[in-house]
Amino acid sequence: MNFKKLAALGLSAALGLSLLAGCAGSGSGGTAATPTPAPVESAPQASAPASDPGDGSFTTVTEGVLTMATNAAFPPYEYYEGDQIAGIDIELTEAIAAKLGLTAKIEDMEFDSIIPAIQQGKADLGLAGMTVTDERLEAVNFTVSYTTGVQVIIVTEDSAITSSDDLFAEGASNTIGVQRNTTGDLYTTSDLEEAGLATIDRYSRGADAVQALLTGKVDCVVIDNEPAKSFVAANEGLKILDTEYITEDYAAAMSKENEALYKAVDAALQELIADGTVKSIIDRYITAD
Ligand code: ARG
Repeated sequence: MNFKKLAALGLSAALGLSLLAGCAGSGSGGTAATPTPAPVESAPQASAPASDPGDGSFTTVTEGVLTMATNAAFPPYEYYEGDQIAGIDIELTEAIAAKLGLTAKIEDMEFDSIIPAIQQGKADLGLAGMTVTDERLEAVNFTVSYTTGVQVIIVTEDSAITSSDDLFAEGASNTIGVQRNTTGDLYTTSDLEEAGLATIDRYSRGADAVQALLTGKVDCVVIDNEPAKSFVAANEGLKILDTEYITEDYAAAMSKENEALYKAVDAALQELIADGTVKSIIDRYITAD
């Protein structure tokens, strides 16, 4: 028994999105060798927005502003640098906003408040290293996927847990820390807690789950690979174990009620993928391993 089974749950949605991503990215290239930093402040462009679906009729929550909801505790996608929110998803939002002639505004909130904020018309989109899942697709639209992630396990260096199989061993009874309502939570709940093999402790931030690991309150943390690397780099005595979870597609979540804005943002993101901008932003935060 291993993580393959649970991973299959999200496969259909993920597959559809990866195919789309593959198409969008197929013409990309070129610019990665000398990445130009994205503008720090998103300067609305004077020229006609290239990604406008045609009639330019989209509306946003606040006129002239692209309001993005995130949970800024997920490095390198979104995190605090002093009192500023930085990261891949922030730069992507600024690049999308610039293409559409809008100014980006970032709203930090709990991870599981992002989709409700979009549904309630408080945010135009959510970018939060958010995985496309079938359940979320019932609530929101997702744009083309701009990158991928995979769930990993963080343990202490001296942990008795040495591989994902240990979590599934007969009679296992680990306490697992996760960020509430993330895919790490959903997968471990359905595969381990419901099978009576683990207790899941849900935290509002991934970093809090990692603190619980450092103080011995949980036996491991299941979280996306890039934040995991960043938490392990920031804390002594932790290491990462691989799982066999499928690769998850990250995309921007948007309202089902605002088709014009959805099309404009999706087209802008596809262009940013195709011209290498997305890759150059990601490459500045994530070094290939
Ligand atoms: N990829 C996972 C999910 O979508 C975790 C995302 C958590 N993101 C964050 N900004 N805290 O469920």
